[in-house]
Amino acid sequence: MMPYRPEPFTDFGNESEESRFKQALAQVRTQLGREYPLFIANKTVDTKRRILSVNPSNFNQVVGSVSLADAVLAEQAIQTAYSAYATWSGVSLESRADCLFRAAAELRRRKHEFSAWLMVEAGKVRAEADGETAEAIDFMEYYGRQMLQLAQRGERELIGMDGERNRLDYLGLGVGIIIAPWNFPLAILAGMTTAALVAGNTVVVKPSSLTPVIAIKFVELLRNAGIPAEAVQLLPGSGKEIGQYLTAHPLTRFISFTGSKDVGLHLHELSSRQVPGQRWLKRFVGELGGKDAIIVDRDADLEQAAQGIVASAFGYSGQKCSACSRAIVHRDAYDAVLKRCSELAEQLMVEDVQDPSCDMGPVINQSAYESILGYIHIAKSEGRITAGGSAARGDGWFIRPTVVADADPGSRIMQEEIFGPVLAFTKADDFEDALRIANFSDYGLTGSVYTRNRKNIERARDSFAVGNLYINRKCTGAIVGVHPFGGFNLSGTDSKAGGPDYLQLFTQPKLTSERL
Ligand code: SER
Repeated sequence: MMPYRPEPFTDFGNESEESRFKQALAQVRTQLGREYPLFIANKTVDTKRRILSVNPSNFNQVVGSVSLADAVLAEQAIQTAYSAYATWSGVSLESRADCLFRAAAELRRRKHEFSAWLMVEAGKVRAEADGETAEAIDFMEYYGRQMLQLAQRGERELIGMDGERNRLDYLGLGVGIIIAPWNFPLAILAGMTTAALVAGNTVVVKPSSLTPVIAIKFVELLRNAGIPAEAVQLLPGSGKEIGQYLTAHPLTRFISFTGSKDVGLHLHELSSRQVPGQRWLKRFVGELGGKDAIIVDRDADLEQAAQGIVASAFGYSGQKCSACSRAIVHRDAYDAVLKRCSELAEQLMVEDVQDPSCDMGPVINQSAYESILGYIHIAKSEGRITAGGSAARGDGWFIRPTVVADADPGSRIMQEEIFGPVLAFTKADDFEDALRIANFSDYGLTGSVYTRNRKNIERARDSFAVGNLYINRKCTGAIVGVHPFGGFNLSGTDSKAGGPDYLQLFTQPKLTSERL
């Protein structure tokens, strides 16, 4: 088998690629507004209550209407997944890995179609959508290979003993609940789901109610690739109604969650309580928020730093848990970096992502829009606005990229996750002071340092408390297998998605020792 290599991004400068993409987008546009049922195993269920998925770039456009699950359907889904566990976990791990490779191949063939869905349902610009589809392919190619390696590792790494044959097998756990976010509704959902499946588990997947259509498309693709319908249940529904129900269920063996800190903490607590009929400790794998900082040292390449800060802060409208929302700049470089970032932010074109000149799309929905504008209001009293500072015009949830100068490290805009295009600047006296400010946070997901000083690079490696530290580059855009992703402290369980230790979280190793 070919070794894993990350999927290349599409070269849209190539005319035929560009025209293939346009065709895919046009095709997806003809499919907007359709109705989607639920599936419990192979049974189709049409519910009266629906989730209406709306294009965040154009709130007059319905992307799809999706059946909404309730607790009764959640019970059926979990019972089905539980019964299917015996069969699916008995399928050889080579066959399970093959399902992932087939799904990756199919997604590669339909890459532009999926990216087009991401544009209309999640409000991603074309390059971000293309990057996400590539990441979903990567997760499946990578985890498939990782599973094959994990199987060999059990025998390879044990110490031999005369007169015995010993083996360590990595078995599945049981039924997993996958609760996926809207900001990477394809890649993160695909990664969480297929890691659990390839390790031999069956899953109930709850997509975000803001992006259910892309989830339906993906689960259809998995089933076409040979994953039995009983092993992967997709259950669109509200977090309060079914997310909690599934997490607290006695048959649930683990929860794999990506989302906000508050919801994550709540589910973590729920999963730690034993309920009647529960015969195991539930495992919780959580990837929560971030309040990610970029430090700029006095001797850094300031243009490179400004470009990196702006890309990290405003890519996907700042709606990545890896997004930079704090720029901490040495006092000697502060004015120059602030000025350049403000200029670059003002140059970004904010509009419908389908418009070819668009640099930055909308935020995801009305409640995000209101919350972010609320923070911009707070920013006006906590700092000084040097770019943006208001909504942008259009029929979508558009907000101008906003830069706030002179924020106090303890202020709300420097402490709370805004999850939008708002970047706060603070001045540091020296590199030690910058590190101290950067670490003054409940979170610890990503961080970058721009410097030419080797001593300070090593200092950051020792002391910058983040799971993903980047030097002289942006703090977003981790690549599967290259930059295992996950954070410290309240950013989650630092489970390192796309890394060599991830699959073990969904397995239980079993030792068999046979006397010869
Ligand atoms: N993995 C993404 C990034 O690195 C965020 O989820 O930007």
